[in-house]
Amino acid sequence: MQVKDTVVLVTGGASGIGAAMAEEFHASGASVVVVADRDEVRAERVAASIGGEAITLDVTDEAATAAAIRHIEERYGRIDILCCNAGIATAGSVDAPNDDWQRTWDVNVMAHVYATRHALPGMLQRGSGYIVATASAAGLLTNIGAAPYSVTKHAAVALAEWLAVTYGDRGIGVSCLCPQFVDTPMLDAFAGRTDAMKAWVRGLAITPSEVAAMVVTAIEDETFLILPHPEVATYFRNKANDYDRWIAGMRRLQESLRDQGGSGAM
Ligand SMILES: NC(=O)c1ccc[n+]([C@@H]2O[C@H](COP(=O)([O-])OP(=O)(O)OC[C@H]3O[C@@H](n4cnc5c(N)ncnc54)[C@H](O)[C@@H]3O)[C@@H](O)[C@H]2O)c1
Repeated sequence: MQVKDTVVLVTGGASGIGAAMAEEFHASGASVVVVADRDEVRAERVAASIGGEAITLDVTDEAATAAAIRHIEERYGRIDILCCNAGIATAGSVDAPNDDWQRTWDVNVMAHVYATRHALPGMLQRGSGYIVATASAAGLLTNIGAAPYSVTKHAAVALAEWLAVTYGDRGIGVSCLCPQFVDTPMLDAFAGRTDAMKAWVRGLAITPSEVAAMVVTAIEDETFLILPHPEVATYFRNKANDYDRWIAGMRRLQESLRDQGGSGAM
């Protein structure tokens, strides 16, 4: 799929990776980029800067998501590219409160189900469409210190994979974005408590615009897995090759991060 002349919807487009994607789609010639976010002011700001449209949307509200998709289809004729990008980072173990688990599940997984459920019929009817799911390296590996985040991001990868298998022969492309650290407001949630941890995380972080450029390339090449940090491919291969060895390595990493006073969450 070529991005030029497409109608694009980016959820979580008011900040970080979503805002950079919206800007990159615009720069790549998309005919309109709709920025949907629960943060009305920032969504308006991003949309205004690229001549797009802002929609205030809580992605966990299925009826509101359906209405936003209907509005875009009626106003612009179709949705070519749907980016399910809004996400939240929730730390904690199995004893994180149920409300935290549920909220993380709703934003990081069910919102992808809802948006896809309502955007797919139009795409299938036209025999053409593209879905980008923002998961995380935590969805392929794990996020030390953040069970709700790791588990829901694994589910987001699983959903994207399932969609690619199920609809790939019907004109629907799917990519799954799995970055490690990216320099956005969310990075603070991963950065731990000490200066040493913060510096370590910041040192590994790449910019949202670098990620956004890779997303556009992946759409045009129709590549499923987008790994802005190439080392994640190696870790993922190591995990598949020898699961027990990989778990032992992650325990050692956890120990060393604990020594530095951080969660090492990613
Ligand atoms: N920053 C990183 O290091 C990193 C790494 C891997 C994956 N990710 C993923 O990238 C995506 C974007 O995160 P980011 O780093 O740009 O963070 P961010 O906090 O800058 O942006 C997230 C955006 O999502 C919006 N959002 C959150 N909940 C929402 C809801 N219920 N309804 C509508 N909008 C909602 C926020 O308002 C915000 O604008 C997330 O899915 C995140 O999990 C981020």
